[in-house]
Amino acid sequence: MRLTSLLPLAALASLSTAQSKGCGRALPCSFPEAGTSHNLTLPGTDRRYRLYIPANYDKNKPTPLYFSFHGATRDMLEEEALSQFSNPQFNPNGIAVYPDSTNGYWLSNPNADLSRPNDLDFTNDLLDHMEENLCIDKSRVYSAGKSNGGGFTSVIACNATVGSRFAAFASVSGAYYDTDETEGIGPCEPAEREEGYPFLEFHGTADTTAPIDGNTEKNAKLPVIDFLHGWAARNGCGDNARWARNETVFVKPLVKHASWDCDGKKEIVQHYRESENGHCWPSTVGNDDYPEHADQCPLGKSPYNATEYIFEFFAGYRLNL
Ligand SMILES: *[C@@H]1O[C@H](CO)[C@@H](O)[C@H](O)[C@H]1NC(C)=O
Ligand SMILES: *[C@@H]1O[C@H](CO)[C@@H](O)[C@H](O)[C@H]1NC(C)=O
Ligand SMILES: *[C@@H]1O[C@H](CO)[C@@H](O)[C@H](O)[C@H]1NC(C)=O
Ligand SMILES: *[C@@H]1O[C@H](CO)[C@@H](O)[C@H](O)[C@H]1NC(C)=O
Repeated sequence: MRLTSLLPLAALASLSTAQSKGCGRALPCSFPEAGTSHNLTLPGTDRRYRLYIPANYDKNKPTPLYFSFHGATRDMLEEEALSQFSNPQFNPNGIAVYPDSTNGYWLSNPNADLSRPNDLDFTNDLLDHMEENLCIDKSRVYSAGKSNGGGFTSVIACNATVGSRFAAFASVSGAYYDTDETEGIGPCEPAEREEGYPFLEFHGTADTTAPIDGNTEKNAKLPVIDFLHGWAARNGCGDNARWARNETVFVKPLVKHASWDCDGKKEIVQHYRESENGHCWPSTVGNDDYPEHADQCPLGKSPYNATEYIFEFFAGYRLNL
């Protein structure tokens, strides 16, 4: 029986619009073999990225794509070790891409390179390149990052052109700069869409690099609560939205989970507030953050894996294409 006689016309239409141009195409020789990662350069540019193809990659099956952006002064390789987006335990079926910054910093950090093509252009072009060469499910493209990379994830969401291509966003220990006046970014003006902009945020109360209450001394960072209220407001909660729930999920160390319901969208903005944790990516076994940056991670380990929560959160969202 032919596929057309099995599926309602509407389902068929959404299948074909969500399917990227790369569907049916063999993996380019320069790309990693299924089940492995490689460093690559975006053709025609000097911008580097690391790509992971899952072991079960099928060129005819639209596959989700997960971006993971490194923190300030770090790189794509360290981000892969930290976020574990290439670990089949967390990500059995998706493609992971780890873009590399030009000088260790992403747009919104005061040290970032502002010249065009900038980090937003690079992200947009890299996504085009992924869609042209791989079989991507365009309704399931997601972005996450650590610290400056988490802040940049929000910068992406704020940009009408680039942010519209991503279904949901996550940030771990994000550094959120007030970007209204920043050249190359401008005010946060995402494109209107029915699905909204799902945002998941993790923050430790002992973070001294991106303090949860913000800082004003140098490189001013916003208080995390103001940042979250910004995303709640943009998701239709209005300017004075308060979290709908704020529950204890772990007792020792105390971890609270707060979430916002906006415009009929339940828990569209979510936040884990980890007492005693520092500028770390929560993991039950420890990860790259712990041995290398132990001074910033006083607990050593967390009672949960942030990566697991991120993939669960992302699984709840896709774009209506
Ligand atoms: C991949 O890139 C990382 C980050 O720049 C670098 O440390 C590593 O040596 C590179 N790996 C290879 C095989 O070139
Ligand atoms: C949004 O990103 C696109 C692609 O990089 C860029 O051309 C555009 O200038 C950005 N828009 C704003 C308002 O910064
Ligand atoms: C949640 O509750 C804690 C106190 O238990 C409070 O400090 C925090 O501000 C509340 N809200 C959020 C969004 O974390
Ligand atoms: C957290 O992830 C690690 C792998 O990085 C895994 O070994 C561990 O079992 C996970 N913990 C939980 C509670 O799932």
